[in-house]
Parts: sequence; C-alpha cells; structure tokens
Amino acid sequence: MPVTIVIGSQWGDEGKGKVVDLLAPEMDIVARYQGGANAGHTIAWDDKKFVLHLIPSGIFHEGTTCVIGNGVVIDPVALMKEINTIKELGFEVEGRLFISHNAHLIMPYHKAVEQARERYRDAGAIGTTGRGIGPAYVDKFARTGIRVVDLLDRDVLRRKLKDAIDEKNAILRGVYDAETLDVDQMIEEYVAFDQEIDPFVKNTTEYLNAALKDGQRVLAEGAQGSLLDVDFGTYPFVTSSHPTAGGCCTGLGVPPTAVDRVIGIVKAYSTRVGNGPFPTELDGDPEGIGQKLRDVGHEYGATTGRPRRCGWLDLVALRYTTAVNGFTDLAITKLDVLAGLDELKVCTRYRIDGKETDRFPNDLATLERAEPVYETFHGFGDVTGADSLDALPATARDYLRFASDFLDVPIAMVSTGPKRSETMMV
Ligand code: IMP
Repeated sequence: MPVTIVIGSQWGDEGKGKVVDLLAPEMDIVARYQGGANAGHTIAWDDKKFVLHLIPSGIFHEGTTCVIGNGVVIDPVALMKEINTIKELGFEVEGRLFISHNAHLIMPYHKAVEQARERYRDAGAIGTTGRGIGPAYVDKFARTGIRVVDLLDRDVLRRKLKDAIDEKNAILRGVYDAETLDVDQMIEEYVAFDQEIDPFVKNTTEYLNAALKDGQRVLAEGAQGSLLDVDFGTYPFVTSSHPTAGGCCTGLGVPPTAVDRVIGIVKAYSTRVGNGPFPTELDGDPEGIGQKLRDVGHEYGATTGRPRRCGWLDLVALRYTTAVNGFTDLAITKLDVLAGLDELKVCTRYRIDGKETDRFPNDLATLERAEPVYETFHGFGDVTGADSLDALPATARDYLRFASDFLDVPIAMVSTGPKRSETMMV
C-alpha cells in the first residue's frame, strides 16, 4: 500500500488529526502537502491534548518520519515554535522531520497584507485565519516568493526580502492606507533562521520517491477540507491551496500512480468556520440544535478559537467531494455528538429556484440560493466507545448505512469520542 491520502470531505475540522494519528503507526512517513499554519489538527491521548498547525500528526509516533512538502507554505516562526514545543513534550524531532527546500515561506508582510485586505473588503471579507496563507500563495504563483532554500543563503535572502518588503510596503501604504513594515528589522530577524532550520531541510520529493521505491508506506495528510479547495470549493470563500486529492501529487511530487487509497474524513454533521455558503446550516433554529452541536462537539476553531457554524450532514456536497477525490473509504467522526437528538436530518437534494437537484453547484450565486431537502432519521443514545457497528444502536447504524450507500463508499472507521481508544475500525 504505497500512498494513502487522508482528506477532509467537508469544510475542514472533520477530525483529520485523530485519524492520521491512528493510522500513523502503520506508516513509515506522514507528509503534509498543502496549506500552512491555518490548519489545527487536534490529537488527544490519555489526558493530554495537543494541536498541531504545521507539523504532520505522525510526529508523536517514534517510528514515523514526517515531511512538510513543497506545496505547504511555512511560517518559520510558527514552525520553530512548534518544533520546540514538541521537543519539550519529550519527542525527538531532528532526523524525523524533513522540510522541502522548495516550500514557500510566509513572512510578516503576508499577514499584514491579508489583514489590510480583509478590512478593506469589509462585508465581502473571506473570514480567513489571518495566517498570511493567501498572500503567500499569491507570491508563489507571481514568482516573487521566498522559499525555504533561500533561508540558507543570507545574501540571497537579504536581497529577496528587501525587494519583497519594498513592494509590500508600497501596497500597504498606497492601496490600504495601512502601517508599513521595517525592512532592516525583518531582515535581521529572518537571516537568523538559517542555522535553526538547516537540519530539517531536504529535497523531500527525491526522499519520498526513493522511500516509495523502497516499499515504504506514505500517509499524505491534507489540511482544511475539499469544499475549501481553491478550484473545487465554494470560491471565493475558500483557502488558497488544493486540499483535494490532486494536491497530494503536486504538493509532494509523488506520482498519482503511487496513490492507492483515499480516505475521506466525514464529520457526522457539518461545520464551517469563516464566511461563505452553507446550505444545511442551523442558524438560530428554534430547537437550538445548531448551538447544541457547537457546545457538545466543542465546535470552536482550533487555530483561531472562532465559533464554528453548525448544520446537518450534506450528502449532496459529499457526493461531489467523493467524485473529485475518488474516496476509497470513509472515516466518520464525532458520531457521539449527535447522541440524544430526537431526530436527525440528512440533506439529499437541493431546491434551487423551485426545482430539485442532486447536483452540487459550485458557483456562488446558485449555491447561495440552494435550500436543503432532507430525509429524516430516528435519533440514538450514547455511542461513546462502541467497538463495532453491531455495538451501535440500530438507528445509528441506519444513519451510517444510508450515508455510505448514498455515496457508494464503504466506511472504514467510526470515531465516537476524542480519545484514540474511542474509535472503531470497521
Ligand atoms: P485561510 O486559509 O486562512 O486563507 O482562510 C480561508 C478560509 O478557509 C476561511 O473561511 C477559513 O476559516 C477557512 N479555513 C482555513 N483553514 C481552516 C481549517 O484548518 N479548518 C477550517 N477552516 C479553515
């Protein structure tokens, strides 16, 4: 089994961290392929809980090597902070974490431009995480970005930083009437990263392909979710990378023919953080179910702490992301959060301009007009810690079976609580 991809099938926050953490012991390498410190992958074991933003969730398994691929955008300050925290927890990082020399860097001017742009957009703001992700990818594709390898040559870094900061200051001042940044101070801060980051830098594409040839197993960890993909998501309310399966190949440099398993992580209901359309959202519903899901599911952003918008499971959207990603298996998370509700709803069609459809429209104007059409299911009681499908209440099994049949993808895993032990392999 060479490459397995783990992907969020909704708008992120599906619980990928836990699934990767569970699969990591079977893997030789866990690799992140896109996004940056906008992600927040929560892992809980014993009574400990840890949120990773950049480093793959495999780092807590001694036998696993972790890779941050070329498709990721790296904030060196956030990276070093995360490395130091993991070391303080008693885990070895050197020799176990490799960072692509080709990955692009996030600099303070990316965050400054993003914040200024979000303020400027006002009501049309995306509601980003404020981590500078979009502007860093803009520079990458404008071919003006600074890469990890540039950190290792102080002269190159000084020259590139000066050019970039001069340009960004002109934009901040001229377009957004915002505060500018100090070129010299930033150069001094960032040239100092060369020795700290050097032990981790590698040609990770070469490394991964050699490992694959050698029969090693690679888990590719997607961040965010399929509906936040810059092409396939609810544009412009998306992130600036490709969380979908294709992003794994371009973000790591592994061939599509090496991928033989694509696990779609599906939260048992839906959530979204940030702005943008969300057809099954329960916003101010009379029974307060949206708020209940938020409270019971602790639906507050792992990166920004923002309350997540909550709603029913949307199978129209999921059928679309299943097609885009080619899911071979599903991992259902947070089933326990639904326990205690009298009835559950699942969206199987949208009504748009009076007509029903089972297609997911990925143009904003149409999607904003979509009203959900639901099938209703009986609720179920406590499912925490159930270790097989048979151990679940029949109504919970019906709910899962309906989703799996609708998507025509088998369920491989069901999570019924935050702990590693509260997971069943099907
Ligand atoms: P950005 O990725 O910070 O540019 O934010 C763009 C959109 O993606 C916003 O709606 C964010 O809330 C959302 N987003 C980014 N990262 C995550 C994540 O890890 N989970 C959920 N939503 C995210």
